[in-house]
Amino acid sequence: MKRSEPHILNPGCSVVILAAGKGKRMGVTCPKPLVPICGKPALQHLLDTLKQCDLDHIFIVHPREQANLFKQTLDEDTCHNVQWVEQAEAKGTGHAVQQALPFIKTEKVIVLLGDTPFVSKESIQQIKKSKQPLSLISCLTENPFGLGRIIRDEADNVVNIIEEKDLEPDQKAIKEVNTGIIAMHTSILTSYLHLVDNCNNNKEYYLTAILPILEKHQPGAIECMQTSPSWKVCGANTMAELAALERKHLLSVANQHLANGVRIKDPHRFDCLGDLSCGKNVVIDINVIIKGRVSIGNNCTIGAGCILDNVTLEDNVSLHPHSLLQKCHLARGASVGPFAYCRENTQVGEHAQVGCFVETKSTTIGKNSKAKHLSYLGNLEIGERCNIGAGVIHCNYDGQNKYTSIIKNDCFIGADSQIIGPVTIEESATIAAGATVTKRVPKDSLAISRPPQANILNWKKKLTQ
Ligand code: UD1
Ligand code: CA
Repeated sequence: MKRSEPHILNPGCSVVILAAGKGKRMGVTCPKPLVPICGKPALQHLLDTLKQCDLDHIFIVHPREQANLFKQTLDEDTCHNVQWVEQAEAKGTGHAVQQALPFIKTEKVIVLLGDTPFVSKESIQQIKKSKQPLSLISCLTENPFGLGRIIRDEADNVVNIIEEKDLEPDQKAIKEVNTGIIAMHTSILTSYLHLVDNCNNNKEYYLTAILPILEKHQPGAIECMQTSPSWKVCGANTMAELAALERKHLLSVANQHLANGVRIKDPHRFDCLGDLSCGKNVVIDINVIIKGRVSIGNNCTIGAGCILDNVTLEDNVSLHPHSLLQKCHLARGASVGPFAYCRENTQVGEHAQVGCFVETKSTTIGKNSKAKHLSYLGNLEIGERCNIGAGVIHCNYDGQNKYTSIIKNDCFIGADSQIIGPVTIEESATIAAGATVTKRVPKDSLAISRPPQANILNWKKKLTQ
């Protein structure tokens, strides 16, 4: 490879993330580091961890003309101080690092792989502190297939890394593998990276091929730190590996919550994809999914199959099975579900109840009010102690505009009535079952809009005559 001109370096540490590979083994059309795992792109996990690591610069090596795709897919927040480096053709990890080398201004550089999302802050800090010219992190694994094996000499020093396709038969049994986390003095890259060739079975310029070159010129310059558990530092090259990695991460998150005293019925069937905080005495049944920021107060129970996406539950809330809640706030003692759908901006008041097959959106349900069956409650302000009967619909949309209606305290809305927004139903009003409410209902009154019932006697007989 071409040699990069040496340039003046400042103290400090940069990171180069390699994300320009073809991802052939995964069989996806987008770059592999952008494939979502546990709710966000693999690369996003890495960037979120790096935010906590005090680094000078972050470079992302991306495939030709794909910087915009990366910027659109990743969090704007984490991207604004990333420097983008193009690798026009994926010729190997060494070639990818070489593209970034002319832009590196710090004395130290850490190379990370975009397809290893769960590298920990501790691993990065550990390798950042190392003083050796080259440090790498290895791990022991029962299934080393596909990974670069660590080759040690008689004195146990690491002298090489050999990739799967280049292994001699007797080397295949080596269980110590390269995690891909490598830190170097930048001067090592300037001095030796151009000496790396592509004489291997993949015809790629491997970054790992710099090890024997360095060992030849500066014996003893390589330091190897072992870490565990191995799954944390392992990448995912195929969909099967991605699925296995995802399960391992989710299980470890579930175990952390268990350790904090949350009663998770089955940690193998709990997907926490977001930031969850839980009070005391919280019980979470199977197949619950957490997304975004979720805060659960004391003494709450979450039924099987519930999905909570950016939700706050105060104390003593019960979520019954298979309810989906997005951007909602449930006050103390509230109860929702089973099979409820609380959409954005739903506020359920203290001890209020939202029952089965009820959909809510931009709606406030006051203290001790109930809507227990089969309703659509969008753009409504419901006061306290109201009863919303089965099948009540707030008709909030005329095809062009959305309208808000108000139901004041102590109202009784009979089953199967339609409230055509915008209207106000004043305090203590009663809406008769099946009514179509189109205008203001005064306080304490009954609104009824059904034709009187007529009973036609002997109807059956007349029909058969
Ligand atoms: C790599 C390591 C291997 C290690 C394993 C750990 C090399 C040669 N091999 O193997 O020792 O055990 O990771 O997971 O370093 N990439 C580019 N440009 C390229 C090629 C790859 O940016 O030209 C990026 C990929 O997008 C990927 C990362 O580098 O994110 C690693 O490449 P990949 O092909 O997955 O390497 P592995 O075979 O997994
Ligand atoms: Ca990989």
